[in-house]
Amino acid sequence: MTLFRLDASINPANSSSRAIADIVEAEWQAANPGGTIVRKNLGNEPLPSTAWIGALGASWAPEEARTGEQRAALALAVGLAGELRSADAALLAVPLYNFGIPQHVKTWIDLVMAGAKSADEALLAGKPAVLVVVRGGAYGPGTPREGWDHSTAYLRRILADVWGADLTVVEREFTLVGVNPALDDFKDLAAQFKDAAHAAAAVAGKSLASGAGLR
Ligand SMILES: Cc1cc2nc3c(=O)[nH]c(=O)nc-3n(C[C@H](O)[C@H](O)[C@H](O)COP(=O)(O)O)c2cc1C
Repeated sequence: MTLFRLDASINPANSSSRAIADIVEAEWQAANPGGTIVRKNLGNEPLPSTAWIGALGASWAPEEARTGEQRAALALAVGLAGELRSADAALLAVPLYNFGIPQHVKTWIDLVMAGAKSADEALLAGKPAVLVVVRGGAYGPGTPREGWDHSTAYLRRILADVWGADLTVVEREFTLVGVNPALDDFKDLAAQFKDAAHAAAAVAGKSLASGAGLR
């Protein structure tokens, strides 16, 4: 069995999304002691942002007219799509940055689509996936920034609706409480959010291992 794990924190040494994903991974590993984990750490090793243009240029050009750069970009894209296609389960840990999807995660998604057999190939059809989402602030109903998270709905769309994953989402908010003094009034709430997210991660990890998403 193979688990594909993608991390996107740009601060991996002190990452709350990684900590949650580690809980999920530990559950999967416990159920699959001989399993393989394919890791992609986009925060440490981002993909080249020009590769998507090169990969599409290659696929639109006749074989003999492709530049070396285009060939390399298409090979990268095909390889990234293949990593997902050959995985049995997927785990992604993605922080909210600037109210949207991290640009290095968007680059990865664009390249996967460019390297797939078609842009809507269901690379994770019938496979369980866990998406870990963390946000420094809080965006729940009635909060001043309700509706400002423009990342999570997009990631759900791609993972569940385009790639066909049986998706479970684990979310944690207020990770900047204790870091930003302006949020000190929310310490108790933030601690509750953390505990709830870590408990949800353990449950999600079990479902990832059993092959069923929770939604
Ligand atoms: C450049 C940058 C932009 C950020 N933008 C947002 C944001 O728009 N909304 C938010 O709630 N938190 C934002 N944060 C806070 C992160 O979401 C938060 O620190 C999160 O815990 C980071 O993930 P990690 O702990 O896995 O590294 C931002 C952090 C950084 C470094």
